[in-house]
Amino acid sequence: MQNNRRPEQRLWRHRCRELCERPIGIFDSGMGGLTVFSAVRKILPGENIIYFGDTARVPYGTKSKKTVTSFSVEIAEHLVRKNIKLLVVACNTASSLALKEIRSRIRVPVIGVIEPGVETALKETKNKKILVIATNSTVSSHAYAQMLKKKSPETEVCEKACPLFVPLVEEGWCGRQATFMVANEYFAGLKKTGFDTIILGCTHYPLLKKVIGKIVGEKVNIIDSARSVAGHVFEALKKNGMFNPGSRGYSKFIVSDAPEKFSGLAWRLLKIRVRDIKIKRF
Ligand code: DGL
Repeated sequence: MQNNRRPEQRLWRHRCRELCERPIGIFDSGMGGLTVFSAVRKILPGENIIYFGDTARVPYGTKSKKTVTSFSVEIAEHLVRKNIKLLVVACNTASSLALKEIRSRIRVPVIGVIEPGVETALKETKNKKILVIATNSTVSSHAYAQMLKKKSPETEVCEKACPLFVPLVEEGWCGRQATFMVANEYFAGLKKTGFDTIILGCTHYPLLKKVIGKIVGEKVNIIDSARSVAGHVFEALKKNGMFNPGSRGYSKFIVSDAPEKFSGLAWRLLKIRVRDIKIKRF
C-alpha cells in the first residue's frame, strides 16, 4: 500500500509544481496593457508572464463586437497553446465585448478588467456617483454601467468616451499642454454630474492620471483598474494554490507586428525593458 502511494504522491506533487510554474497570460490590443503587466509584476515578482500585444490590429476601441471577439478568442487560444495557467484580458474593450465568448472557448481561469475596477470604485465612492471614461466601443457596450448597477443598483453612472487619449499616450504626450486641453474639453460638461469617483476604463488612461487629477481635483477618487486587476490575479492564484514557488519569474512578450515600436514605447512610457520579444502573425 505504502509503496503504491509514494510514486502517486510524487506524481501528484510533480503535476502541482508543473501547473504552478506555468506562465500567466496577459493580453491587450497593443502596448496599453503593459500598465496591467506592471501592476501584476509588482505584486507577483515570482510569476512567469507572457504578454501578448495585438499591435497589428490595434485599436480595438473603434471596432465592432464581432471583430473584437474574433481577435480576442484567437489570441486567448494562442496563449493557451503556450500552456498558460490563467489569462488576464487586460484590454477594457475586449473585456467589455468578448469576455463571455473567451470564457466559453478556453479551459483556464479568465480575469477581465471590468469587475475589479467596478469593485474598487464601489468601495471608494461616498456619494455613489461614478464617472466611467473609456473607448467608444467600451462605452457603447455599457459593460461598466451594467456591472456597477448589478452590484449597486442605486449608483448613478455617467459614461464618457475619450478616444483621443489613446493616440496622445502613444505619442508619449502624457504631460503636454495639448493633452491637458483635450482632457479639459472632455471633462467640461461632466463636473456638474457631481461624481466623486472616476474609473479609468482603458489600458492607456492610467498614464494620464496626473493630468486628469489636475482637472478634477484631489477630492475625486481615480480608479486605476490595472492595480485592481493585479489584486484579483493575486487572489485567484491564492485561492487555487497556484503561486509559482520561484522568486523571480520570467517575462516574455509576443506582438503581432512592429516589435521595435512596441519595445520603444514600453521603455519610453513605462520604463519596461522588453527583451524577449517574438512575432506572431495572424
Ligand atoms: N486596450 C484598449 C482598451 O483598454 C485601448 C486601445 C484600443 O483601442 O485598442 O480599451
